[in-house]
Amino acid sequence: MGYVDEGIGFVGAGNMGAALARAVRRQLPEAEIYVSNRSPEKAEKLAEELDAAHVDNQWIAQCCRMIFLGVKPDVVPAVLKEMGPDLKLRERKPLLISMAARVSLGELEELAQGCPVIRIMPNTPVSIGQGVTLYAAGEKVPGSAKAALLEALKSSGCLVGIPESQMAAAGVVAGCGPAFVDLFIEALADGGVYCGLPRDLAVRLAAEMTAGAARLALESGRHPGALKDAVCSPGGSTIRGVRQLEAAAFRGAVIEAVIASMGKS
Ligand SMILES: NC(=O)c1ccc[n+]([C@@H]2O[C@H](COP(=O)([O-])OP(=O)(O)OC[C@H]3O[C@@H](n4cnc5c(N)ncnc54)[C@H](OP(=O)(O)O)[C@@H]3O)[C@@H](O)[C@H]2O)c1
Repeated sequence: MGYVDEGIGFVGAGNMGAALARAVRRQLPEAEIYVSNRSPEKAEKLAEELDAAHVDNQWIAQCCRMIFLGVKPDVVPAVLKEMGPDLKLRERKPLLISMAARVSLGELEELAQGCPVIRIMPNTPVSIGQGVTLYAAGEKVPGSAKAALLEALKSSGCLVGIPESQMAAAGVVAGCGPAFVDLFIEALADGGVYCGLPRDLAVRLAAEMTAGAARLALESGRHPGALKDAVCSPGGSTIRGVRQLEAAAFRGAVIEAVIASMGKS
């Protein structure tokens, strides 16, 4: 029996845990999925939606071979201590997958009772299968466990393996980035409204354009500066807008936002 066949457990059915559980269900329609949550109503609702079972943390520790920890970072130690005695008894250790920001592999491994541990950092677009999930695996993680996780999360979007030392910075770019881009979309739409567009059209155009420009940057492989240059005809309207953004220190503001979110000055 492999990691997936023996059941996939989600401890914590909040925003991110539920988004990943939905992605796993999309990818693995036949998998046995188990959900636990502090307030049972949330787990019951998610279990019903996903044709999964509502159980408790202990049950997941005893039975599942792939266990997602979707609780807040400060709750992770208590949850692992609660699950510890059952994890310790498991002959074939389950893979623990923590999505908790700022909880290191070292801290997780100390409480994992010998279970292999992978840290992941998903972002909100995983809820529509367009996310970025960063991952860093502990040394004890067998290749088969990592492959099973990547297969299970295939429908969440793209998966990017990075060294753990880059998790904080990459987490800001990929995880805080959606909020920064939302601000940009909102502001672009505001500009459109100021210039006479109806609000819904302005928001739609701004969002579609952002999605398309991002795809073009990815698929062309061209430097974003070169793509910008290609749109700026001499003396034209785009370069006038670029000048205004530079005067308002647009790029500097974005760089500072990344640094601020990292908690650095
Ligand atoms: N949201 C994001 O964009 C994002 C991105 C990347 C990573 N993350 C990480 O994902 C994790 C969850 O974040 P979230 O935004 O999804 O938070 P959330 O919506 O508050 O979900 C946390 C869930 O954990 C449940 N919970 C608390 N204690 C528990 C326990 N002892 N046993 C079982 N379940 C318990 C909570 O239950 P109640 O319903 O009773 O409160 C809640 O449903 C965090 O570690 C965060 O760092 C989040």
